[in-house]
Amino acid sequence: MTEFSFDGRPVPFRPGQTVGAALVADGRLSWRSTRRHSAPRGIFCGIGVCFDCLVTVDGRPNERACLVPAADGLRVSTQEGTGHDD
Ligand code: FES
Repeated sequence: MTEFSFDGRPVPFRPGQTVGAALVADGRLSWRSTRRHSAPRGIFCGIGVCFDCLVTVDGRPNERACLVPAADGLRVSTQEGTGHDD
């Protein structure tokens, strides 16, 4: 089975999909919030330019979900703030 986890829940994906595409296909349209206004963010540009889609992947914050290839066993999580302990 091809799936990664998002906030501890399994997300299936098809070969070639990015993490962001798989999240949208799974019905999730936002997965982080802005620091100032807590506005929801997900895929906007889809090509790695806007940085709206930031997630933490296997403990690495600030990964762009629209660019990270989905892979079996990845641990993806919602990013809080900058993603660092500050
Ligand atoms: S959606 Fe714009 S960088 Fe990912």
